[in-house]
This record gives sequence, C-alpha cells and structure tokens, in this order.
Amino acid sequence: MGSNVYNLIFLSMFSLALLVSMHQVRAKESFGRGRKHLNSCNLFSGSWVIDNSSKPLLYNSSTCPFLESQFDCEKYGRKDTQYLKYSWNPNSCSLPRFNGEDFLNKWKGKKIMFVGDSLSLNMWESLSCMIHASVPNAATSFSKKDPISTVIFKDYGVTIHLYRTPYLVDIIKENVGQVLTLNSIKAGDAWIGMDMLIFNSWHWWIHTGKSQSWDYIRDGSNLVKNMDRLEAFYKGLTTWAHWVEANVDPSKTKLFFQGISPTHYQGKDWNEPNNTCNGEDEPVLGPKYPTPLPPPTDVVNKVLKNMKKQVSLLDITLLSQLRKDAHPSVYTENHRSDCSHWCLPGLPDTWNILLNAALTK
Ligand SMILES: *[C@@H]1O[C@H](CO)[C@@H](O)[C@H](O)[C@H]1NC(C)=O
Ligand SMILES: *[C@@H]1O[C@H](CO)[C@@H](O)[C@H](O)[C@H]1NC(C)=O
Ligand SMILES: *[C@@H]1O[C@H](CO)[C@@H](O)[C@H](O)[C@H]1NC(C)=O
Repeated sequence: MGSNVYNLIFLSMFSLALLVSMHQVRAKESFGRGRKHLNSCNLFSGSWVIDNSSKPLLYNSSTCPFLESQFDCEKYGRKDTQYLKYSWNPNSCSLPRFNGEDFLNKWKGKKIMFVGDSLSLNMWESLSCMIHASVPNAATSFSKKDPISTVIFKDYGVTIHLYRTPYLVDIIKENVGQVLTLNSIKAGDAWIGMDMLIFNSWHWWIHTGKSQSWDYIRDGSNLVKNMDRLEAFYKGLTTWAHWVEANVDPSKTKLFFQGISPTHYQGKDWNEPNNTCNGEDEPVLGPKYPTPLPPPTDVVNKVLKNMKKQVSLLDITLLSQLRKDAHPSVYTENHRSDCSHWCLPGLPDTWNILLNAALTK
C-alpha cells in the first residue's frame, strides 16, 4: 500500500518531468523554425535585397536641413534611384524599422557624439536627417564650429554632436612643423560626459603628398618623417583604447566603433576593368565580395579584442564593400569622382539602422 503511494508519486513526478521536457523541446523547435531573436543574430552577415515597398526612402535630401551638399547626389544630377531601394537583410533575423520619434523618446535628455573623420560626418548627417524626417515640425537647432558640429532636437533635449578629428590622436605644432602625435589625445576632453560615443578613423592615415596634413610622426620620443601607415594606425588606435579605458564608464556611456568604410577605386576588386565607381548602379549581390576585407579591419579587431571595456563594433565593412553603387561618384560639386564617401540618403542610413538595432539588442 505504502509503496503504491510512492509509486504513484514517483510516476506523476516522472510524467510531469516528461511533460516539461517535451514542452521545452517544442519551444526549441518553434524557436528554430522562426527567425532568430535579435540577441543571437549577427546583424552584419547577410545580403542586399530590393525593397519594392512604395516608401523605401527614409528622407529626401531636399527636405533635410542638416544635409551638406557634399553628399547630396540628387542635387548634383544623379538620376538613377535603384541604389535607394536596397535594404540590408541579415541572414538570421529581421532588422527593426527605424522610427525617429521612438529614438528621440528613448534618448530623451541625452547626448550622442560621433568622433572621427568625414565618414563620421556622413553617418551623423544621415542620423540627423532620418530623425528629422519622422518629426519634421519639431524644433531643432544646428551649429557648426570646427571641430564640433551640433544638431539639437529641442523638444526632446536630444543632442547629436560630431567631433571632427580624422586620426583620433592629436596633431601638435612643434618647431619642426605639424606633428602627428601617436600617443596624445588631448582632444578627448571634449568627448567626456556623452551618453553614447561612436568612433571612427582610418581614411586619413593613408594620405600622402598634398593631402597629408602633418610633417612628422611622433612615436614616444622618436620623431620620424614617415612610417608604415598600418603600424601608425595600430599605435594611434591603441592610444585611443587607453583613453577609453581611463575616461569612459561603459555603464553610463554606450560605446561603438564604426568599422572601416571601404572605397571603390579599383574595379579589379569587384572583377571589372574600370578604375572608379562611376557608372556603378547595382550592388554586388549575394553575401560575398570578391576581395578580402581591407587590412585596417585587422587592426581595429585586434585593438578592440584587447580592451577590458566593451566597445561594440559596428561591423559595416563587408556590407559596404558590396555597395559599389552607393558612392557619390561624379555627382559632386566639382564632378570629381568620389568613391570614398556615400550618397545621402543612402548607405549610411543602413549603418544607423544597424546602430539602432544594436541598441535594441
Ligand atoms: C522588385 O521590383 C523589381 C523591378 O520591378 C523586380 O525585378 C523584383 O523581382 C522585385 N522584387 C521583389 C522582392 O518583389
Ligand atoms: C525628392 O524631392 C524632390 C522634390 O519634391 C523630387 O523631385 C525628387 O524626385 C525626390 N527624390 C526622390 C529620390 O524621391
Ligand atoms: C566605366 O566607366 C565609364 C566612364 O566613367 C562609364 O561610362 C561606364 O559605365 C563604367 N562601366 C561600368 C561597368 O560601370
């Protein structure tokens, strides 16, 4: 009799356990069948698909008050519009739609700063235009005072700064001339107190001749006329990493590094004879680009990996490599070919959609 009761209890516990585990199996199956949650999804691996919805555009360049003509391809005569219709489709999840008003409510009273070169400018203008398009009547202010440009959405107290510093480290005037100083970030004082920082650097590190903005490089006590540019970038970025470790509290400030933005000056990279992106009106379709990632991406990965504080990489390099069609090309003020920056509206809008998705994770 006693043992029967025990058997019964044991049996019911057993069936309960069985039920629970069957339920778990079923839950796992249905999870596997659907698209993965944003959390477990690599946002940066995927492909470009045509979005035929009637309103794929987030904004029109002619209605964004913050847009510089530098990126306004439509103003300089770009007539094809297909490049505005691609949307980034990660392999295993869908990107949340960007809603400027939600973004403002979420960042109410907060300060955001992009820090870096003109690719930061590209992304900062894109974000400001994307937000403005969803609250076109909201009060804003706009100021540019080198090195800081600022857009404020006054009704929400949201400030979006751009701090222009192409190398992140300082250029300091010494007796010999302008010195790119690999172990100094005095400019960093202006980046303190932000609620989100998005850094970027690389393009200026390879400049030579007229477009090189320094005479010497200082590496500690060594003053040199030149050095391997990837090595210089590694040293400068390491100084930046030390600055972040010493000055930013990641529980107060969200930290991002905007990955290396690729250029399209060599058609052989995408198996075509042309030496510009001129006339390109389609992305490379599919998930793969014919050439490897540019070498500075290794430098960025290495420096970020060695940091104690977590800086999220916006890993936009491959998805941007695929977009040989998204540069201003000849649609610039002087019609000189630009295969380095990106038209707005355009690709940087996707970078911001990915930033927003990474913040939602
Ligand atoms: C979008 O439109 C283009 C051109 O009309 C068509 O070729 C393509 O199949 C459409 N794509 C989708 C996903 O509907
Ligand atoms: C942007 O707006 C202008 C003026 O309304 C219009 O002519 C143009 O076609 C629009 N551009 C795009 C890409 O929709
Ligand atoms: C190559 O460049 C020429 C001159 O800019 C342009 O007309 C042509 O469309 C380009 N070819 C391709 C495949 O883009």
